[in-house]
Amino acid sequence: VGAQTKIELSPREKPVTISKHIYGHFAEHLGRCIYDGFYVGEDNTAIPHTNGVRNDVVAALKELQIPNLRWPGGCFADTYHWKDGIGPKEKRPAIVNNWWGGVTEDNSFGTHDFLDMCELLETEPYLAGNVGSGEVQELADWVQYVNFEGRSPMSDLRRQNGREKPWKVKFWGVGNEAWGCGGHMTAEYYSDIYRKYATFMSDWSNTGGLYRIASGANSADYHWTETLMKKLPKNLVKGIALHHYAVIDWNKKGPAIEYTDEQYFRTMKSAWFMNELVEKHSAIMDKYDPNKEIALVVDEWGGWYEVEPGTNPGFLYQQNTMRDAMIAGMTLNIFNNHADRVKMANLAQTINVLQAVILTKGEKMITTPTYHVMEMYKVHQDAELIPLAIDSKSFVWNDEAIPAVSASASKAKDGKTYLSLVNIDPKANQDVEINLGKAFSGVSGRVLTSKELRDFNDFDAPQRIAPRPFDGSKLNKERLHVSLPPFSVVVLALDEQ
Ligand code: AHR
Repeated sequence: VGAQTKIELSPREKPVTISKHIYGHFAEHLGRCIYDGFYVGEDNTAIPHTNGVRNDVVAALKELQIPNLRWPGGCFADTYHWKDGIGPKEKRPAIVNNWWGGVTEDNSFGTHDFLDMCELLETEPYLAGNVGSGEVQELADWVQYVNFEGRSPMSDLRRQNGREKPWKVKFWGVGNEAWGCGGHMTAEYYSDIYRKYATFMSDWSNTGGLYRIASGANSADYHWTETLMKKLPKNLVKGIALHHYAVIDWNKKGPAIEYTDEQYFRTMKSAWFMNELVEKHSAIMDKYDPNKEIALVVDEWGGWYEVEPGTNPGFLYQQNTMRDAMIAGMTLNIFNNHADRVKMANLAQTINVLQAVILTKGEKMITTPTYHVMEMYKVHQDAELIPLAIDSKSFVWNDEAIPAVSASASKAKDGKTYLSLVNIDPKANQDVEINLGKAFSGVSGRVLTSKELRDFNDFDAPQRIAPRPFDGSKLNKERLHVSLPPFSVVVLALDEQ
C-alpha cells in the first residue's frame, strides 16, 4: 500500500533563515492577561513574584524562549497614554478600559513594569504606539523616554523615575488595526498619517534604526497592503502587519471546548486560509519590494471562540483544546515555509486571553496544548529553512477539502535537521513518505496528541496533554516513513550521517 502523503525536502541555493521572531507573543491590557495574569502586584504574598510579575509565568515563558512580546495592545494601544503609567504608582491616574469590559485599571503596570519584565523574560519588547487617539509628540516622546542615553526632557524624566540606562526598544508598531478600532481610517488616509508619525519617531538609541511596523490588513484586505506598499517610504518602514484569526463566524464563534465536528472543520479551514493570505499579501509586496526588505508581520493570529460560560464577555477567556494545538502547528508551518517574507508574528494572546499558552487561577498556573506546540517548535528559531514540496491527503467535510497534513523543516545551529508534521484529520491516521534528499543516520522525536480531540489541560489535570516520545517513524537512509496519529503534532530530529 502506497503512502497517503508524500513530502520531498530540497535545500535552496540561497539560504533563508526562519526568524526567531515568528515565535513572538502578545500581551494586551485585556481581561486577565496583564492584571491577574502576568502581574499580580508587588504586595502579593500568596503568589511568588519578582516586582509583581509571577515567577512561574516567567519560568514557563523562558522555557519557550519567547523572542519578543507585543504590548500594550491591540485595540487598547490606541487608547493608551503612556505618561499615565509612569512615576509613583499611587499617583497614577485610574483609567477605564473602553474596549475590553469597561473595567477601571489603576495603571500600576506601565512602561517601566513592562520593559523590566521583558528583561526578566530575556525577550525583546515590541511597543504598539497610540496613533488613533494620541498625538505625534506623545509617541515621539515615548521613543525618546525609553531609548535615549544622553540628557533630554524625556530621558531625564526616565532617570527621575528610577531608570538610568535606556532599554533600547527596537520594535515599534505605528498604531493598531487603523482600519477598525485604531481609528476606522482608509488605507490612503492611514498611509499619510503613518508617514507623519514615523518621521518623528526618531531613532534615539542609534542602534541601527527603529523597526517600525505599519498597521496592516484585516485578513483578505489586499487593497490595504497594496496602498501601504505604494505610499510608505522604504526608509520609514521595516514591517507591514497582517491580522487573521481562525474564527468560524464573527457572529457565531462556537464554544472553545464542546465544538461539533463541523465547527472543528470550519476552524481548521479558517486557520489554513492563513496560507493563502500570506501568499497573496506577499505577492503584492513582491511587486514593490522584490528584494524582500520589508517584512510581513502577522502580529495577531490564533483561534477565537465564545468565552467560557460565566466569564466576562469582554475578557475573551477561552479554554484551549487539541484543536488549538492543530491551529498552532499548522500556522507555524505556514510561517516557517514563508520565512523569506514572514519575519515576525505574535500569537494572541499569552495568558488568559484567546489562544493562550498559559492559564492562571489564583495561585495555580497551567500550560495549554498550544504552549507545548510552541515549545516543540522552538528548534526552528533562527534555523535555516529547508523548503519542501508536499502532496497531502485531504481532510474532507461534505464537498469541501483542505490538506490533512502540513509540514516544515529546518537545519538548526546544533547541526540537526528538524521536521515538524501536523495531521489535522480528527479520525484518520496518516502514512507519510518523506524523501529527505540525503541520507541520515538516526531519528528521534516527540508527539503531542490526546485520547479525545476536545481534551484540554485543566487546573486539576495540568499534564493531561503534554509531549511524549514518538515511535512512529522509520528511517532508511534518505527515506523516512512516519505514521501520524489523528489530530497530532510531531517534531522529529534527524542526525547527519
Ligand atoms: O486580540 C484581541 C483584539 O483583536 C485586539 O485588541 C485587536 O487588535 C484585534 O481586533
